[in-house]
Amino acid sequence: MTWKTAPVATTVTRVRGLTRRAERSLRAARSAWSGTDVEAGAAHGFELEMPPWPQEGPGPTFPGLISQACTDAQLRTAAYRAWGDRLRVPQIYVHRKQWEWFFIAQAMEEAGVVRPGARGLGFGVGEEPLASWFASQGCPVTATDYPGGEHADAWAGSGELASSLAQLNNAGICDADEFAELVSFRRVDMREVPDDLVDFDFTWSSCAFEHLGSIEEGLRFIERQMDALRPGGVAAHTTELNVSSATETLETGPTVLFRRLDLERLAARLRAAGHEIQCTFHTGDYPNDRWVDTPPFTNTHLKCRMGEHATTSFGVLVRKAG
Ligand SMILES: C[S@@+](CC[C@H](N)C(=O)[O-])C[C@H]1O[C@@H](n2cnc3c(N)ncnc32)[C@H](O)[C@@H]1O
Repeated sequence: MTWKTAPVATTVTRVRGLTRRAERSLRAARSAWSGTDVEAGAAHGFELEMPPWPQEGPGPTFPGLISQACTDAQLRTAAYRAWGDRLRVPQIYVHRKQWEWFFIAQAMEEAGVVRPGARGLGFGVGEEPLASWFASQGCPVTATDYPGGEHADAWAGSGELASSLAQLNNAGICDADEFAELVSFRRVDMREVPDDLVDFDFTWSSCAFEHLGSIEEGLRFIERQMDALRPGGVAAHTTELNVSSATETLETGPTVLFRRLDLERLAARLRAAGHEIQCTFHTGDYPNDRWVDTPPFTNTHLKCRMGEHATTSFGVLVRKAG
């Protein structure tokens, strides 16, 4: 993994000014959107002028991952597109959901933890292809999810809730015998990670830790799951980053939106515990990076509207103190 230092906002005044400007632009764009003719197939979205903080330094790269947001520039690289074949995703869209899987797989490969015998632990795995890809590389995997949880019906309806082992190799990424030997499934509530889950080389979750009820519960999960790693082990977890406000957000409920300040607070807590994490909050400067998709969603979906907010995907990448 290549770690690099990202710049931080210079003055509080400048950030506040930009926040107000971005919120004004979001309000204007929202009222424009409310007039669009969805039935006629008009564009479902609006343009976000900028996120509520300065876009300093170079944008995030792929390869060369740190903790970073999903941006269009990453999707245009050969390294990114190669994951389409490797994870058997038939078509690559300008879509943050695919980015989340590709980010996690790439992060683990760059960190050197994808090797025969290296143990992986996945949380809230749904039907994602990651467990079967790691197993196809010879990694014993413990895949977990929370069937029967509060929102289980909603997840099951969208094909995202893992309730049996077979679902996890749907695309046939891993040889069936190898898969049966290497992958086990366990019911785990991310709010109470069991103490016996230890000595893993890598842990991951995609689009899950924003669903634990509150910002604080999500942050607590990331800190708690570090105990499941062996020293030097790597964690990659993707989640929501609010890109329309630095201060107001969805703090509780079925889906929460982390603010930049929440993720910076998390990074500080992880560093204080001796772990290694580098962050950039650059959210991209291509046209697709400014586009906020609105329901019914399309496949130009790096940012989307959720409630009164615009959100994108953010990958948290941490190496445990070793
Ligand atoms: C949006 S789906 C993502 C599924 C999959 N990771 C993917 O990327 O396709 C959210 C997942 O989080 C899981 N989840 C929600 N609350 C959970 C909890 N308290 N403990 C464990 N998993 C949970 C759901 O069961 C579901 O599989």
